[in-house]
Parts: sequence; C-alpha cells; structure tokens
Amino acid sequence: MTDAVFRDLVAAAARPYRPCGRYAWHFAKGKLGGDPVFGHLMRHPVLPAGGRLLDLGCGQGVLMALLRAAAERHAAGGWPPGWPPPPTGLACQGVELAARRVRTARTALGAASVRQGDIRDVPLPASDAIVILDVLLYLNREEQAAVLARCAEALAPGGILLLREADAEGGLPFQATRWAERLACAARGRPRQPLTYRPAREWAELLAKPGFAVTARPMSEGTPFANTLFIARRVS
Ligand SMILES: C[S@@+](CC[C@H](N)C(=O)[O-])C[C@H]1O[C@@H](n2cnc3c(N)ncnc32)[C@H](O)[C@@H]1O
Repeated sequence: MTDAVFRDLVAAAARPYRPCGRYAWHFAKGKLGGDPVFGHLMRHPVLPAGGRLLDLGCGQGVLMALLRAAAERHAAGGWPPGWPPPPTGLACQGVELAARRVRTARTALGAASVRQGDIRDVPLPASDAIVILDVLLYLNREEQAAVLARCAEALAPGGILLLREADAEGGLPFQATRWAERLACAARGRPRQPLTYRPAREWAELLAKPGFAVTARPMSEGTPFANTLFIARRVS
C-alpha cells in the first residue's frame, strides 16, 4: 500500500516537469523513485513541519517538488497512517549554479523557487532547515568546511542540516559511486571535474566543529553505492 502511495507521490511530483520536456520529466521520476533519500524523508520525521528550507545545489528542484506534492496529498486526505505528516508549512527555496537546471526548476515550480548562485559565496538567509544532497563533492576541502560553517550561522538554534555524501571508506560500493560520478561528469562534458570525497567519520567531525550534533544513516538502499545521510542539528 505505502509503496503504491509513494509511486503516486513521485508521479505527482514529476508532473510539473512535463512542460520542461521529456528529459526533465523522466529525470524527476527516475531520481525521486530510485534514490532512497527521498522515500526516507517521506517515511521518517526528519524535516521540520514549517519554517524556511534552503536546498543548496538543488539541481532541477525535485526535492521541493516532492515536498509540494506531499503537502497537497496530505491536505486531500490520502496520506498513509503509518507515515509522519509531511512538512506542510515549509517555505522552500533552492540555490543552483547551472543555468539550465535553474530554468527547468523555475518552469516547473515557479519563478521564485530557485536562485541562480554559487553556494560558495551566495548569502545564506536565516533558515530552519538546509539540505545539501550530493553537492559538496564538487568543492575542495576548504570550500566544503566554509560552506558548512556558513550553514551553521544561517540556521536557527535547533535548525537542521541534511547532508548526503559518499563514504570514501565504503569499499567497493564507494568505488561504484566514484565511477558512476566520473561517468556522469564525462556525460556532462566535464571529464576532469575535481571530486573531493571524505570518509563518513570525517564528515561527521567536520559537522561537529561549527556546533552540530550529528547522526549518520546509510542512504544507499537499493543502489550499488556507498552514501551516507548526515542529520545535523544546530545545538550551539
Ligand atoms: C548531483 S546534483 C544533485 C542535485 C540535487 N541536490 C538532487 O539531489 O537532486 C549536484 C548539483 O549541484 C550543483 N552545484 C555544484 N556545485 C555548485 C555550487 N558551487 N553552487 C551551486 N550549485 C552547485 C550542480 O550544478 C548540480 O545541479
């Protein structure tokens, strides 16, 4: 039953991408349906019910599309009793570097949904939740630390940062993650894109420095990869 609900939710979240073309629509369906982090966020009470959510490196904005579809389904009364209520009062905004993805997100989700910018220097507004999924690997070590420290400053006490990165000590599944990313970079015409990975324990240490209390959850179920979701709450 809940698998069918999640499939419906993915279809509803992907629908706004139809006017953006077949690629954007199929990408939204494939990403939301195939990447375990999105189902996890629906089935577990991780995000706050309301406040301001900032999605850094949001791509074409599929997380925001999913949250919107979830709030609509919940309001219509078709929410599974075993799932926590979805966030219904979150004001979401994305930041994305790639102009084409910004255009896609704006077409699907509205002009105000995404700002074009570089998370290394864009001002971060006061937020209750910040999400960074599969983005920091494109930054060097100093830039990664600086972005996380700025996130801590932007978050209200008790605010939450969700970070997903590969675990460089993840053995063969990590090698699969690395090669898949290399192929993706080559397909985007950037075969030499530098990629900076860290072991999961090092990400946790880095998050602890600016005052986050961190829990880590494996986030690769159903894939051959070695990804970890860090749930970091600002405590000081
Ligand atoms: C692997 S995609 C992940 C997209 C999205 N977070 C998701 O999970 O669907 C990484 C995204 O980060 C963006 N990105 C990379 N470096 C960035 C930067 N310095 N500032 C903003 N966005 C960046 C890329 O353009 C790309 O859209």
